[in-house]
Amino acid sequence: LGLVGSVQAADPYPSKVITMLIPFAAGGPTDTVGRLIAQSMSKDLGQQVIVENLGGAGGTLAAGKAARSPADGYNIFLHHIGQSTAPSLYRKLSYNASTDFETIGLVTDVPMTIVARSNMPAKNMQELLAYIKTNKDKVTYANAGIGSASHLCGMLFQTAVGVDLTTVPYKGTGPAMNDLLGGQVDFMCDQTTNTTSQIKGGKIKAYAVTTKKPVASLPDLPTLDKAGLPGFEVGVWHGLYAPKGTPKPIIDRLSKSLQTALKDPSVIARFAELGTEPVAQDQATPAALRKHLDAEIARWKPIIEKAGQYAD
Ligand code: MLT
Repeated sequence: LGLVGSVQAADPYPSKVITMLIPFAAGGPTDTVGRLIAQSMSKDLGQQVIVENLGGAGGTLAAGKAARSPADGYNIFLHHIGQSTAPSLYRKLSYNASTDFETIGLVTDVPMTIVARSNMPAKNMQELLAYIKTNKDKVTYANAGIGSASHLCGMLFQTAVGVDLTTVPYKGTGPAMNDLLGGQVDFMCDQTTNTTSQIKGGKIKAYAVTTKKPVASLPDLPTLDKAGLPGFEVGVWHGLYAPKGTPKPIIDRLSKSLQTALKDPSVIARFAELGTEPVAQDQATPAALRKHLDAEIARWKPIIEKAGQYAD
């Protein structure tokens, strides 16, 4: 007798919608990066990659949810440098930022900008530093909670300037931008993926970029290193993850899809408009993100301990 009945071929992956969890509110820089690559990955995978936003606790709420999501290839997680700073900022986390995740690949490294409400009197970074020092008891600084990139930049800024600022936390710098536009908060350090259009539209004032090199799409902005805080540098790298235990063939398929998205001309063009660019193809790999994540967790630990800003 031949083989009776048909051997059911395993479902080809992906056979249904994939959810990409974003650890900050919609409309912010992480959401912008996430939606861009999700749209492109959907085309490559032949299944929708849908974005789900979960803000709170500087991105650690979503990181915990991602760590506990089913390791079936239908749950992925986009996070930035905050994945490497949270282990030092939070005395207790509901997850281990390194061992609870499979790495899929690095995505992009986004510059940050020092921006203020449009009626801020300071005309340049030197005047802004003077204004902040003179008004340190009433100046308000917006961020997206301890663990966010805006918090990290603010922590480095306060240490460099030697002031303790009143910070106003939001579920993302999308909502924070609304208050900056309305003048309800004085200034913030936020990614070009969120500030570029408002700067070009003259809706907020911009003083400097936080990268060593100037940002081509914001040519009038000096680097902070040159404009007032020598040695100040912070870039917001982004990585794509899946929960630990997601099968390797699925991780490899997702990494290939990420690499395809990062070669997509529309993704490259939109990143360029927003002041950033995709990582090189050999960085959009599980090994490259694993190496970078573990190096960054180690690098930020002493810096954060010295700054002494923790979440309880
Ligand atoms: C966001 O997407 O809202 C930002 O990444 C928040 C932050 O990290 O500053």
